[in-house]
Amino acid sequence: MAYETLLVETDGPVGVITLNRPDALNALNDKLVTELGQQLDAWERDPAIGCVILTGAGRAFAAGADIKEMRVQSYMDAYGNDFITRNWERAASFRKPLIAAVNGFALGGGCELAMMCDFILASEAAKFGQPEINLGVMPGAGGTQRLTRFVGKSKAMEMCLTGRMMDAAEAERSGLVSRVLPADKLIDEAKAVAQKIASQSRPIAMMTKESVNASYETMLRQGVMFERRLFHSMFATDDQKEGMAAFVEKRPAKFSNK
Ligand code: CAA
Repeated sequence: MAYETLLVETDGPVGVITLNRPDALNALNDKLVTELGQQLDAWERDPAIGCVILTGAGRAFAAGADIKEMRVQSYMDAYGNDFITRNWERAASFRKPLIAAVNGFALGGGCELAMMCDFILASEAAKFGQPEINLGVMPGAGGTQRLTRFVGKSKAMEMCLTGRMMDAAEAERSGLVSRVLPADKLIDEAKAVAQKIASQSRPIAMMTKESVNASYETMLRQGVMFERRLFHSMFATDDQKEGMAAFVEKRPAKFSNK
């Protein structure tokens, strides 16, 4: 499918979506967010896809919601059209593993979109921030909630109240990103990680993601119980039998995704 605001490619079981409005630093307008949702819908349904990478063209992952599109909105436009809720959160509900490869600015909604992914790989040029306060608003796509869970109250509060950016090293130190890579290695390494994930059993990877995500949304006791029930259910899969047999027989596992 051809898009106006995205580039899409596959490499075997790995899908790569590149946000592609580089002249606007990939600012997230309604069209882009809608197209992103359409592609995620398609790959969620496609059994050939096991892992997806989200990245940005040019100097940015995304420099936030499109300010030029937003500035004319009234309260009733935002509330009435269910701004953000209507089409932004597809990344957060995507059921397969989703990696953000952040190559430059990830600001405002761009930082929030990266945080909706399962983990963030960053290039040394990455810059993260929630600068909405400079525009007379606050983060509106989950930033006050997700950033706080990633980096703790003190740093999240400082970032949201001052709008300052953090560099890749600070983002790694504070737990926002899983790893920092040289800019010219970012996409290759993201693809290697994605291939590794896609080579695992699809249902087991999906349930593992669900279980880690539950830790954000439940108290510890309910989270551990959720994990335990999913763990028990895995003994009903062919892939559990195959994975453990392969270990005992000292050979690579051949998962059937069943
Ligand atoms: N929306 C619309 N256009 C944007 C944009 C955005 N969020 N960010 C950058 N652009 C555009 C600029 O207007 C400029 O376009 P023109 O060439 O037509 O003037 C182009 O992208 C390049 O940007 P700059 O010239 O500003 O580049 P720079 O290197 O000087 O600065 C920057 C880079 C510091 C990232 C700066 O562009 C900037 O501060 N951008 C805005 C960041 C921001 O405030 N994001 C939060 C948006 S609000 C939000 O996201 C709400 C929410 O929570 C959902």
